[in-house]
Amino acid sequence: MQIFKGWKEFKAKPQAEKFQYFSRPSSLQNKTIHHLIYAQQLTREFTGELFALADKIRDMAKTKEGMDSLQRLASDKRAMLFFVQPSTRTFLSFLNACHILGIKTSEIRDTATSSEIKGESPEDAVRTFSSYVDLIIVRHAEEGFAEKSAWVLNQSGRPIPIINGGSGKDEHPTQALLDLYTINRSLGKIDGKKIAMVGDLKRGRTIRSLSQLLANYSDVEIFFAAAEQYQMKDDILEYLKKRGVPFSLTSDFESVIPKADVIYCTRIQDEYDENGESEKIDYRKFHFEERHLASLKKDAIIMHPFPRRLEIATAIDNDPRAKYWEQARNGMWIRAALMLKILGREP
Ligand code: CP
Repeated sequence: MQIFKGWKEFKAKPQAEKFQYFSRPSSLQNKTIHHLIYAQQLTREFTGELFALADKIRDMAKTKEGMDSLQRLASDKRAMLFFVQPSTRTFLSFLNACHILGIKTSEIRDTATSSEIKGESPEDAVRTFSSYVDLIIVRHAEEGFAEKSAWVLNQSGRPIPIINGGSGKDEHPTQALLDLYTINRSLGKIDGKKIAMVGDLKRGRTIRSLSQLLANYSDVEIFFAAAEQYQMKDDILEYLKKRGVPFSLTSDFESVIPKADVIYCTRIQDEYDENGESEKIDYRKFHFEERHLASLKKDAIIMHPFPRRLEIATAIDNDPRAKYWEQARNGMWIRAALMLKILGREP
């Protein structure tokens, strides 16, 4: 493994101390995000600006004239999609967001087809990409890989932005963004809402990032419903306590359904199993079934970051409260907005 002088010291710093290092160097008070690595970099103010920009982009995209204008916004830019952990939605929504904005794209989706198979380190691969493009979006199985990439590029002569498209079990900040955007569009606001998160909360990175962002809103309450082995980890619970967000832990999913404004389902993340441990748990009591619709509030919504297995019955797909297909599409618009912000190209 390559040794990077200074990386260990940087990695050990408290998260909040690193944010300045991930900001655009020229921005006033270092407030503009340059590398998006952690959900906690996304302030309420910045998130609100992204919601408004995403709405504007999707409105412009309704006409050919608007679409032509959008395509000129970043037509001089090139992006690399480095997605070496499987992905459908994050990859396609970033790719299509690039297409909407006129950004040209390159991609690597499997290290078996890149020079990593010849022994090149992933860090050298990222430095190589920076020779060709203006922005890199990273999906990687290794926790902290996006952060290390940003650090490596900041040490180099080409510190182009890195966007974390999901890293290991820890973070998926752009998924949290699209989740908030979906709640805001569906319910009109996020303040005051009660969110039930269900499934594999321990290893689900979308839930971890979303929980942190919810702390930016007033009077939200979170119900974490999971088997004991897969409950939310203490680091997130401590963060919520520090931010004054009320939460409760339960293994009785059905008991929280009538109280929730948002049901956020997730699948078992068995790709992280060490010894097939997920198979030992009966997760059916954490599935949202058609019979549960009767106890769900009339104006509540059902979300899932997808891919799904059996967590939500397909019979529910056409219920107006099922928002997961819209949620996936919202990802394209909010990611387009994020890239415009990062590239400094808002219309
Ligand atoms: N929600 C999500 O990250 O989906 P993909 O793994 O398909 O990108």
